[in-house]
Amino acid sequence: MPASHPPRIDEAMDKQPHGQESAGKAWPDVCCSPARTPLAIVAAIAENGVIGDGRGLPWHLPSDLKHFRGITMGKPLLMGRKTFESIGCALPGRETIVVTRDRAFDSSRGGGHSKAIHVAHELEAALALAQDLARAMGAEEVILAGGGNLYESLIGYAERMHLTFVDVAARGTVSFPEIDWSNWLEVNRVRPRPSARDDATFAFVDFDRRHCLSL
Ligand SMILES: NC(=O)c1ccc[n+]([C@@H]2O[C@H](COP(=O)([O-])OP(=O)(O)OC[C@H]3O[C@@H](n4cnc5c(N)ncnc54)[C@H](OP(=O)(O)O)[C@@H]3O)[C@@H](O)[C@H]2O)c1
Repeated sequence: MPASHPPRIDEAMDKQPHGQESAGKAWPDVCCSPARTPLAIVAAIAENGVIGDGRGLPWHLPSDLKHFRGITMGKPLLMGRKTFESIGCALPGRETIVVTRDRAFDSSRGGGHSKAIHVAHELEAALALAQDLARAMGAEEVILAGGGNLYESLIGYAERMHLTFVDVAARGTVSFPEIDWSNWLEVNRVRPRPSARDDATFAFVDFDRRHCLSL
């Protein structure tokens, strides 16, 4: 069952089953180490958990794109090959790591900013490269930019989430993974006034992983 917008945190503590977030490996081994740049998920999620239709986003939200730009600027971005192709190019001011099993993947597909595209064929290699890039860039976070497949595989490694809750029940085939909300502490919530060009209302909500707070 995909995630949907969270219940209030006190409700979540009572009702959500524990330990359902998936990860290829146990995250505490790598999470919260002072030597490691935190991994932060950035995602926009509909009320029904949908994040995409497999080719792109199911909404037009220029305000969220601007927010995404602000959060991600100057940082390494980790993304799946399908998300990279839906964006269509490397994003200026950031270093993009595309994860693909395709050994023939052509990173010059990124057009004018292809020097800022890196390719990794395994998740561990992608995470290690992201750490190196973050150190070189002086970035305070590594960004996990999607899509559904990458969120599902790596959510267990994330210490932060910058989520946009979009007030629509969107049609789409790709969803955000199951979340155990009791693992996450809401640290900031803003409900901006949407612009005339935004399809829907939305809230920007930041979460920190609770286990990281006690270290
Ligand atoms: N709402 C949001 O915030 C948001 C954010 C990002 C994306 N999206 C949407 O999400 C959708 C795309 O998500 P998706 O789940 O279909 O695809 P995805 O996660 O973007 O990419 C999946 C691809 O990543 C590669 N990959 C995954 N795991 C791998 C591993 N362990 N090792 C090597 N390569 C691996 C594979 O590429 P190969 O097939 O090339 O091997 C796989 O097909 C789009 O609709 C996009 O618009 C939404």
